[in-house]
Amino acid sequence: MSDQKFTDSVIEAMGPGTNPRMKEVLTSLIQHIHDFARDVNLTIPEWQMGMEFINQIGQMSDDKRSESILVSDVLGLESLVDSLTYDTLESTDQKFTPSAIIGPFYREGSPHYKNGETIIQQEVGGEKCYVSGKVTDAYGDPLSGATIEVWHTAPNGLYEQQDENQVEYNLRGTFTSDENGDYSFICLKPTAYPIPYDGPAGQLLQIMERHPYRPSHIHWMVSKPGYRTLVTQIYDAQDPYTKNDSTFCVKGDLIVDFLPAKESLAKEKNVSCTLDYNIALQTTEDFEKAKSKKTSN
Ligand code: DHB
Ligand code: FE
Repeated sequence: MSDQKFTDSVIEAMGPGTNPRMKEVLTSLIQHIHDFARDVNLTIPEWQMGMEFINQIGQMSDDKRSESILVSDVLGLESLVDSLTYDTLESTDQKFTPSAIIGPFYREGSPHYKNGETIIQQEVGGEKCYVSGKVTDAYGDPLSGATIEVWHTAPNGLYEQQDENQVEYNLRGTFTSDENGDYSFICLKPTAYPIPYDGPAGQLLQIMERHPYRPSHIHWMVSKPGYRTLVTQIYDAQDPYTKNDSTFCVKGDLIVDFLPAKESLAKEKNVSCTLDYNIALQTTEDFEKAKSKKTSN
């Protein structure tokens, strides 16, 4: 009962009405999970531990915390799926901003602000930063009317929904690029912090003798009809954790320099640092083309 014949019988038990994509995914899942158990000679207590672990993932999760995403991320799975989806072949004349994982803390419906306004609704300490740049297409032409959502943690390492001392939607905001493609906002210079490690994801890190830190980052979601929605993050070049991210999603092109603000800007905007960051979006059509080229190779 432990050989490939057994595995085949489990796979073949699927009915003819099974959705073809589900059939493909489940066939591979059953094959791999059986091979995995055979490979490590999985014992009954180990299997029980695994089942209990999965139960704990569910028990730890609610609308403010997705433990399954945390576990997936410390295992590198979300980052891998992101790369499989978006690391398409760039043609020589196209240059677009790379993606990164969305992570477990995105919230829809953040407040709309005018360019130049701040996402700091409530003082939580930290260094204020003026961020500005241009949204363009993959050929460098400005894109007006792009929607830019950004979110980051307070210096205590908590997103507002994790922190009862922060007001709703603190450090989150939505902006629109102007007629020249320009956008700007004020936020905090992000700080490094550990992912929540008081649950199964933390247990897993401990078992593997790993740290829970993510490099300081700002999350972005940039969208415009006709363009592939960009979900990404930027990382502070000065942060040592950019070389050692607990969720494995730092890419070279996303590492940026926060600079000290020039005196006039510092005075005018009441900030101590600046970041100049341009974003380039790929059209949905170019993305679909690159993807089909990739799968046919
Ligand atoms: C994860 C990602 C984040 O951006 C974050 O702030 C915390 C955790 C994650 O991928 O698990
Ligand atoms: Fe984050």
